[in-house]
Amino acid sequence: MRSIEAVWLLSLIAGVLAGQSAPSPFAGSEACGTCHEDISKSFAKSPHHAVDVDKKRGWEGRACESCHGPGQKHTESASADDIRNPAKLTAAIADKGCLTCHLNQPTHIGRLQSSHAKDQVACTTCHKVHANGPLGLVARKASAINEQCASCHLNASAQFQKPFHHKLPEGAMSCVDCHNPHGSIRPASTQIFAANEPGCLRCHGDKRGPFTFEHAPMRFEGCGSCHEAHGSANPRMLARQEVRLVCLECHANLPTVKTSGVLGVVPPAFHDLRSPRFQNCTVCHQKIHGSHVDRNLLR
Ligand code: HEC
Ligand code: HEC
Ligand code: HEC
Ligand code: HEC
Ligand code: HEC
Ligand code: HEC
Ligand code: HEC
Ligand code: HEC
Ligand code: HEC
Ligand code: HEC
Repeated sequence: MRSIEAVWLLSLIAGVLAGQSAPSPFAGSEACGTCHEDISKSFAKSPHHAVDVDKKRGWEGRACESCHGPGQKHTESASADDIRNPAKLTAAIADKGCLTCHLNQPTHIGRLQSSHAKDQVACTTCHKVHANGPLGLVARKASAINEQCASCHLNASAQFQKPFHHKLPEGAMSCVDCHNPHGSIRPASTQIFAANEPGCLRCHGDKRGPFTFEHAPMRFEGCGSCHEAHGSANPRMLARQEVRLVCLECHANLPTVKTSGVLGVVPPAFHDLRSPRFQNCTVCHQKIHGSHVDRNLLR
């Protein structure tokens, strides 16, 4: 916000040098309210109203102008040419205005590089700054967030209709439980919680290591090597119809469909893979996510 003020100060000085008189370029929020009554009223209930009442932020009594720029000239002319409307700027420039105050928030570290920013999905595509309620600044309800994301991500959203899925359609969870809408340094902008670990562990803490005996793909490929996080036709949201087919993608002497190349060892010879006894691998290899006591993940 300091840098914005600096820019305006410069343009003000330029005006003075050009021989114009220099009344305060700011009109104050109250003045705006005389003509924009509805916006003014709903704004009074929005979290941004903090900007209007808090001395420390430098915009006391003129919060409207923290986003719209100095408005004295516009209050006199009532002309659209004399006021900044972020909706008429490119996403990148409009976003910069928001980020003068919001860049330092820890949840916004990835913002400038995120694919939302690159693809011109502006802050104001998702946040309606004057409004309140379910479609206001932040959609508080999971179902409202899901609807918003689904409006562009039809495919991802449809995957939650498969028989085994996280309970998004039921409104118990939302896309932002797993994705940071502002971008992150992990693939697909997935959420990061403590220490750069995948966001899945926030809810599935029992899968968190360190285990004495790790199962290699947990560390190197992550949960997605065996599970389809959005939804799956298979129980436990597994990537294959049967547990053994998941395992044999990596633990077999067969040409495999895996492209990642993280191959495990072939099961020892006593595993008769044609016998039903050996087909449900996790009956014996119970600690498939890692074990504290057994190298072969048996207990
Ligand atoms: C005297 C009445 C009046 C006052 C005071 C006033 N406005 Fe406006 N404002 C208007 C009118 C009328 C329009 C519509 C102009 C048009 O569409 O040509 C408008 C349009 C706007 C727009 C949209 C511009 C665009 O590009 O479409 C913004 C943003 C705006 N005002 C912000 C403010 C802010 C911020 C303040 C206080 C600093 C303010 N207004 C004070 C009358 C006023
Ligand atoms: C946090 C930034 C921010 C603040 C604070 C803010 N506005 Fe806006 N305003 C916007 C954005 C962004 C738009 C573009 C429309 C949109 O995307 O919602 C806008 C649009 C407008 C418009 C154009 C008409 C419309 O609704 O699209 C008017 C008028 C306006 N604002 C007036 C005000 C007034 C009056 C205040 C103070 C009471 C205010 N704004 C405070 C960001 C802000
Ligand atoms: C002048 C500084 C400033 C600017 C510019 C600004 N904000 Fe904010 N914003 C704040 C403050 C202060 C809050 C109140 C919450 C807090 O204390 O952090 C806030 C809160 C928010 C929230 C969270 C509300 C909540 O309920 O938690 C969102 C979303 C938001 N702003 C989006 C935007 C967007 C989008 C823009 C650009 C159109 C913008 N802000 C511009 C200062 C600013
Ligand atoms: C793709 C939609 C989307 C875009 C684009 C977006 N946001 Fe958000 N934002 C959200 C959602 C959804 C939440 C609620 C997150 C939650 O509840 O965990 C949120 C939360 C916030 C919050 C509240 C604090 C936090 O980080 O959780 C702020 C502040 C905020 N956004 C500012 C911005 C700013 C500034 C921009 C542009 C630089 C922006 N947002 C772009 C969807 C978006
Ligand atoms: C206005 C349309 C729009 C909305 C709304 C929207 N997105 Fe996006 N999103 C895009 C575009 C465009 C891309 C970039 C192209 C792509 O990868 O599909 C993208 C990319 C992504 C990606 C993948 C790539 C990455 O590395 O970040 C994720 C994950 C994502 N969005 C999640 C969300 C979530 C969660 C929400 C709701 C909070 C949301 N999106 C809302 C348009 C949107
Ligand atoms: C349980 C956690 C989780 C939830 C909830 C979730 N995602 Fe994802 N999403 C992921 C993971 C993990 C990936 C990465 C998949 C991969 O590339 O292996 C991903 C990938 C994506 C991608 C990029 C790849 C693609 O499929 O195009 C998009 C876009 C996306 N998710 C959107 C969404 C949207 C929209 C929602 C809400 C309707 C959502 N996600 C909910 C975990 C989740
Ligand atoms: C916000 C909390 C939350 C997050 C984050 C989360 N999950 Fe879940 N997960 C749940 C809940 C709750 C259930 C069980 C209830 C249900 O059916 O929705 C579940 C169920 C599952 C199941 C199926 C278990 C069964 O018994 O059928 C798998 C597999 C799973 N999650 C994997 C993941 C993966 C992989 C990620 C990260 C990409 C993830 N989860 C992120 C809350 C979460
Ligand atoms: C090597 C493959 C593999 C990887 C990697 C993997 N899982 Fe699993 N997971 C399985 C199998 C197989 C089952 C089913 C076990 C059964 O039915 O006996 C399962 C079951 C689950 C279940 C439901 C039963 C339970 O133990 O709670 C959850 C939840 C789960 N996994 C979460 C995760 C999470 C979170 C990650 C990443 C941190 C992950 N999985 C990584 C193979 C894997
Ligand atoms: C994405 C590939 C992948 C999948 C899927 C996978 N594994 Fe593994 N597994 C590995 C790798 C890599 C190792 C480490 C092998 C090594 O150290 O040579 C390993 C190790 C093991 C070990 C311990 C062997 C040792 O000596 O360290 C057992 C037991 C095992 N896997 C069983 C399973 C079972 C059962 C499944 C199915 C639920 C499964 N694996 C799925 C890649 C995979
Ligand atoms: C009846 C119980 C049982 C079933 C079912 C079973 N295993 Fe095993 N598996 C074992 C035992 C016991 C060992 C340890 C052998 C040893 O100590 O030499 C083992 C070892 C392994 C190893 C480690 C090999 C090495 O050299 O370190 C792999 C990999 C493995 N099993 C994969 C699988 C796969 C894949 C399946 C399902 C197709 C499966 N197992 C089903 C009992 C079982």
